[in-house]
Amino acid sequence: MRKESRMAGKAGIIMKKIAAIVLSCMMCISLAACGSSDKRRTGTEAEVRSGDTAENSVTDDSAADTAGVKDGSSFDLEAGTVMLNSGYEMPILGIGMFRLSQSEAENSVYWALRDGYRLIDTAKIYGNEEGVGKGIKRAIDEGLVKREEIFVTTKMWTDDYDDGTEAIEASLRKLNLDYIDLMILHHSQPENDVDAYKAMEKAVKEGKLKSIGLSNYYEPDDFDRLVKATEITPALLQNETHPYHQSMKMKEHLKQYGTVMESWFPLGGRGNTQRLFEDETISEIAKAHGKTSAQIILRWHLQAGNIAIPGSSNEDHIQENYEIFDFELTNEEMERMTALDKNERFASY
Ligand SMILES: NC(=O)c1ccc[n+]([C@@H]2O[C@H](COP(=O)([O-])OP(=O)(O)OC[C@H]3O[C@@H](n4cnc5c(N)ncnc54)[C@H](OP(=O)(O)O)[C@@H]3O)[C@@H](O)[C@H]2O)c1
Repeated sequence: MRKESRMAGKAGIIMKKIAAIVLSCMMCISLAACGSSDKRRTGTEAEVRSGDTAENSVTDDSAADTAGVKDGSSFDLEAGTVMLNSGYEMPILGIGMFRLSQSEAENSVYWALRDGYRLIDTAKIYGNEEGVGKGIKRAIDEGLVKREEIFVTTKMWTDDYDDGTEAIEASLRKLNLDYIDLMILHHSQPENDVDAYKAMEKAVKEGKLKSIGLSNYYEPDDFDRLVKATEITPALLQNETHPYHQSMKMKEHLKQYGTVMESWFPLGGRGNTQRLFEDETISEIAKAHGKTSAQIILRWHLQAGNIAIPGSSNEDHIQENYEIFDFELTNEEMERMTALDKNERFASY
């Protein structure tokens, strides 16, 4: 009897231990789920996460992941996101709105959100913020996405730098949004860009902007000038970046700040795309993967640690540009792409 009761006691203890293990596993799973639905993470969590990403993503023959590790970037090519230094997660592939009319912007945003895009890039000066807002609303009303799943970027135009607060309010009104995920100053303008940036910092504190950054700062000293005069480190720098202008110097400089590079003219820009599409190296790599040159260039951006926002008003191109998560460029292909850099800009500004 005593032996039996000792055995029953032992069985009880083992059962309790198993129950405790099961319970702690369930808690881990639910905590992980909570974490993944929370767009904002603390710096420490972000660091831990980027460490995880680097570790998990390295494979022997893939340049995608090793390139990310080498760059020190926290690009997650599986999830298609990057953790910004502001603590917010941002999609690394989006759609650009330059030169699109209001109605083109509305349709392009709607098609993009339907196809899986979650990042939209517009600007006050493009004159299509209302169209972008309508496209977002249409997609939300149809139940395709929720507001919190979308990342909207707009830019403050240089004429507005003396009254940044009003410029932010105007963009919020036109986009028909309660907050903007990322606002960036459109161009360096030393006489008053610090004031404009400070207006954006104030809007961050008020919850109207989540992250802030810069565009068209091409010299490290110019970037540092603004950083030294302000409080919040820019989350992102958006500069002309493509295979013929790879922005290596600025990208190297940005590392100390944890600021990510976003490529405008990722395909070379309207009127220039054929030069890149017909480039011998790009065409050869495209043939090898059974992909288009546009897809190879966009995949290269992501593997090189550049957020890409190709512009398009063409429904088929929008879909094609998003179909770049099902293949990887090898180390050798990445090296061949790197060798294309000519430090040549297509735009004159
Ligand atoms: N911060 C700045 O100063 C600045 C300056 C310029 C641009 N940007 C931003 O960066 C975004 C991207 O730049 P961008 O739009 O000027 O240039 P881009 O993305 O390099 O190129 C756009 C051109 O590529 C074509 N295209 C797109 N996908 C294609 C595909 N799969 N196959 C063939 N052609 C394709 C588009 O034509 P279709 O419409 O026919 O597809 C359009 O002519 C802009 O939309 C804007 O949001 C910022």
